[in-house]
Amino acid sequence: MKKIIVTGGAGFIGSHTVVELHEAGYEPIVVDNFHNSEKSVLEGLKRIIGKEVKSYAIDCADPAAMESLFASEGEISGAIHFAAYKAVGESVEKPLEYFRNNLDSTLVLMDAMLRYGAPHLVFSSSCTVYGQPEKLPVTETSPILPAQSPYGATKQICEEMMRQTIEIGRKPLRAIALRYFNPVGAHPSAEIGELPRGVPSNLIPFITQSAAGLRPPITIFGNDYNTPDGTCIRDFIHVVDLAKAHVKALELLEKQAEPAFYDIFNIGTGQGNTVLEAIKAFEEATGVPLQYKIGPRRAGDVAGLENRTYAGRCHARRVALATEADGG
Ligand code: WQD
Repeated sequence: MKKIIVTGGAGFIGSHTVVELHEAGYEPIVVDNFHNSEKSVLEGLKRIIGKEVKSYAIDCADPAAMESLFASEGEISGAIHFAAYKAVGESVEKPLEYFRNNLDSTLVLMDAMLRYGAPHLVFSSSCTVYGQPEKLPVTETSPILPAQSPYGATKQICEEMMRQTIEIGRKPLRAIALRYFNPVGAHPSAEIGELPRGVPSNLIPFITQSAAGLRPPITIFGNDYNTPDGTCIRDFIHVVDLAKAHVKALELLEKQAEPAFYDIFNIGTGQGNTVLEAIKAFEEATGVPLQYKIGPRRAGDVAGLENRTYAGRCHARRVALATEADGG
């Protein structure tokens, strides 16, 4: 089976992608330093897949550790690079930690892949690369405006590192950057899901933990945005759909004839919802009433999709990815 390195493979999206890679006939190899994930996730993966997933408890920003991994694994067909710090709000508080971790891990991985001839890279990028769009709908060819957070800036820089290396430098790497939005939900088995370490910075895990009585009432960060109910709009995409998109992207890379190939895809559902709508949907789905209060805006937040046309474009591109991968 083709070996695929999954950095951040014990994380929320990474672990769900490990399942889909296995289902698609690949051999996923988890690389994770467990900075923002639990080792117990590997047990959950074993219960879903029915066997142990090979894993390395290393930091993919550590050149020596990654060198040792590539040297010992033999032929590696590719990598899906999730490992990154990813909380928009936290990145405003700790910008240098975000730049060091998110850039170093990508540089070390790309260097190892080029030196060992691992040809396929799927990169976990983000809609935050668009900054606050001036013109909607936003598509993959929309201008990249100044990032509204250090987190978004790290994704912009990593994309440019890939583009320069591949499109300008013509180095033998086939890469796709997936710009996704807000992953939510869990594998139907509930053996894996979203369990960040410490106090969740993201909305949905805070909602679930508040509903479970583990956290205080939710604070909605601002209800004075130019949106239907004043709260931010986000494109909440189910994590299993998102995981499948990573496998589709890998399959598309494997079909490329050119050794140097780079492309980007927005990955969303085609439907934006406000924070309040997400809270109401949770209450309706679970029958659990949620307490919440309105607080000040959070630094680094983007108002979001102030009209939902964008989502339609997103959906169209996502369908295109699936069609292209299926050779349609
Ligand atoms: C969503 C909305 C908050 C917590 C995510 C990922 C990031 C990137 C972009 C992929 C915002 C509000 C939140 C809370 C709140 N995805 N909120 N109270 O910032 O959109 O970023 O998508 O790259 O990696 O993290 O997600 O869930 O933090 O916030 O009101 O307690 O919910 O202000 O409007 P965000 P989020």
